[in-house]
Amino acid sequence: MFSQSIPASWVYALQHAVYFVIYSAAGWILETIYRSLGQRRFINAGFLRGPFLPIYGIGATFVLLLAPFLRNQGLVLEFLAYGVVLTLIEYTIGAICEEFFGLRMWDYSEDPFNLGGRICLPYSILWASIAVGFDRWIHPPVAHIVEGIGTGSLHLLVVVMAVYFGLDFAISLNLLRKFVLRLSRVYLRRMSLSLLERTHLFESFNRLLMAFPNLRKYLDTVANFRNRLDQKLSSLQIRFLGFIENRTPREEEFRCFVRDIATNPEFLKTKDFRHHDSSIFRHAFRVAFLSYRVGKSMNLDARAMARGGFLHDFFLYDWRNHDLPELARESFHGLEHPHIALQNARNQFPLSVLEQDIIVKHMWPLTPSPPRHWESFMVSCIDKYVALYELMS
Ligand SMILES: [Fe+2]
Ligand SMILES: [Fe+2]
Repeated sequence: MFSQSIPASWVYALQHAVYFVIYSAAGWILETIYRSLGQRRFINAGFLRGPFLPIYGIGATFVLLLAPFLRNQGLVLEFLAYGVVLTLIEYTIGAICEEFFGLRMWDYSEDPFNLGGRICLPYSILWASIAVGFDRWIHPPVAHIVEGIGTGSLHLLVVVMAVYFGLDFAISLNLLRKFVLRLSRVYLRRMSLSLLERTHLFESFNRLLMAFPNLRKYLDTVANFRNRLDQKLSSLQIRFLGFIENRTPREEEFRCFVRDIATNPEFLKTKDFRHHDSSIFRHAFRVAFLSYRVGKSMNLDARAMARGGFLHDFFLYDWRNHDLPELARESFHGLEHPHIALQNARNQFPLSVLEQDIIVKHMWPLTPSPPRHWESFMVSCIDKYVALYELMS
């Protein structure tokens, strides 16, 4: 009764969702075997963590949708149509990755008859051949099995897979975003990083780098910038450096805002005092950078938030075991240090009214006087968040 009331077009859509999953998995198996044999070790091919390559699922779905119109048009037209459509899909996905992440996940620059390295004729011919064989010999037995699945089970399968794909896609997209962010940071700090530090920085991206060996080029481009003039960089690498530079003005602006503080000899002494999981300097830097980013996104005074955030804990003693000159042993650090930080900051830097409010109110509500500005309130919240994160870590 339940299945009779479901429109045939809906069942057709559900079946195609299942085909998408099956062919994404088949594509993953194909590529994983091909890559693992080539590199003589197991390679988890593809962008997702799970055993799926959605680009194959997308390609297969397009072939299935086109097949009813092409089957009686002759082999040549069928071959050409599949070739054009699958090549267009490959080009579009490649272009999206380049636009949003500045990365080329695969690169056909070395192959003959390529277009911008995103597509090339030999592979287009291969895709078209696979599509023709797929429609004739691979899909019919698979369709026979899927058509035998009841609508209730189809619904359940599609919902479970949709949730799974959504989560995996979000996690993997975030990993790629972090990879670009990490590249930007390495690029900014490239002069001060040792080879060991660079290697360590990218350990968490091993899966991504193994799945897309082309990404290693970007890593090398960014990390070996010191010898840039001696190297022959491809136009792709030069374009990527431009992309990274365009993506990092925020960090540059932040550094500009706090440069005098970060190089002040008196403030640098905060590196010698332990605070939470590391030093006062490190904690203050985290608060400053996060405050700056929040200030930017909320349209607040990001400069004051960065500077106030950096100076908020400007005291020079170990708060767990303190004594004069800065804080007498009987005084309560939690209540006193905002005033000490403000005094120390005033001695070294010209401060705006807002920056002073940020520093002296950052312990609210432990100190009863409430923040007078949104910026002070936000930095106070961010300080608590960062402190909690550091204590837990
Ligand atoms: Fe504090
Ligand atoms: Fe703090």
